[in-house]
Amino acid sequence: EKGGYEHFMLKEMYEQPKAIADTLSPRIQDGKIEIEELGMTDEDIRAIKKINIVACGSAYHAGLTGKYVMEGMARIPVEVDMASEFRYRDPIIEEGTLVVIISQSGETADSLAALREAKQKGAKVLGIVNVVGSSIAREADSVMYTWAGPEIAVATTKAYSCQLIALYLLAVKFARAKGKITDTQMAELIEDLKKIPDQVEMLLGNQEKIQKFANRYLAAKDVFFIGRGIDYAISMEGSLKLKEVSYIHSEAYAAGELKHGTISLVEEGTLVAAVLTQEDLYKKMISNMVEVRSRGAFVLAVTQEGNDEVTKASDYVIYIPNTNKYFTNSLAIIPLQLFGYYIAVGRGCDVDKPRNLAKSVTVE
Ligand code: F6R
Repeated sequence: EKGGYEHFMLKEMYEQPKAIADTLSPRIQDGKIEIEELGMTDEDIRAIKKINIVACGSAYHAGLTGKYVMEGMARIPVEVDMASEFRYRDPIIEEGTLVVIISQSGETADSLAALREAKQKGAKVLGIVNVVGSSIAREADSVMYTWAGPEIAVATTKAYSCQLIALYLLAVKFARAKGKITDTQMAELIEDLKKIPDQVEMLLGNQEKIQKFANRYLAAKDVFFIGRGIDYAISMEGSLKLKEVSYIHSEAYAAGELKHGTISLVEEGTLVAAVLTQEDLYKKMISNMVEVRSRGAFVLAVTQEGNDEVTKASDYVIYIPNTNKYFTNSLAIIPLQLFGYYIAVGRGCDVDKPRNLAKSVTVE
């Protein structure tokens, strides 16, 4: 059933190109983005004043990426909450608020409760869900499925990747409906989206190189992930992947926050994974990398091809192919997933079923 792979997590990482293509292609028709299940006309979209994205864990991280993409492209204000916080904070839901609940299982107790809270307050609720017919899918006003197929490993990989794709599709569609991008710009964005499956495939080919690198860090005590903007969101997901399967303590920080406290934790040999895919932030990131390196950190960089400056501030570089600045998270996450996986394998952890975790959290 693992199709020759040692673990479901590995198998599911390798299924990502197909899962992404399956989530994407039915929604691209004649050079346009069609999300029929949304049940919204362009006029309805233009009436959206605010979006609240609500989810848990990795789905919450996908939501954080969604915020940067939606705000950047469509200029609609987005708030992102963890479901366990949203449901108890008496959130302000006004006319024109769209609530988006993201969930692989569709059964997460806090996410379902947040959905009910939002509906009760009069919001229109869109579910981004993987499991067909699940509770969240049934109770949401509309549901956009991620077509990742069954996900068995406790640590999500392919469902998360498809959640990002669903959010990009919404952002491009909303941006066009609101006139924030032209038809030509939309066509370019769609071309970039279509390239993602092959680019992910290519990055998965780095497997051996990443395994070798991971084997040097099996005894790490702490790992820090740093990034800015959208790369901060992916740092959070990279950090979660590592800690949940390998039991190594890791944290993600917005790189600019380091010097407000966290940098005191950096010592000789501490591993810092720096994600820098946003050209306008390269310089700022490089100066943060120099700061941690001068305190003894070993710096692993994940950046876009063409960023040659990075070598002067890092010890090891993984390049991702070029894509639109809003889509880089889909590529940067691949080496980070592989890194977490191989560290866990090297440490002899139960990769598919990490201690204390359940695939679907149906208790609060
Ligand atoms: C991490 C992970 C969890 C889930 C979270 C939400 O790898 O899998 O953090 O993302 O429990 O689960 P769903 O998406 O089923 O609501």
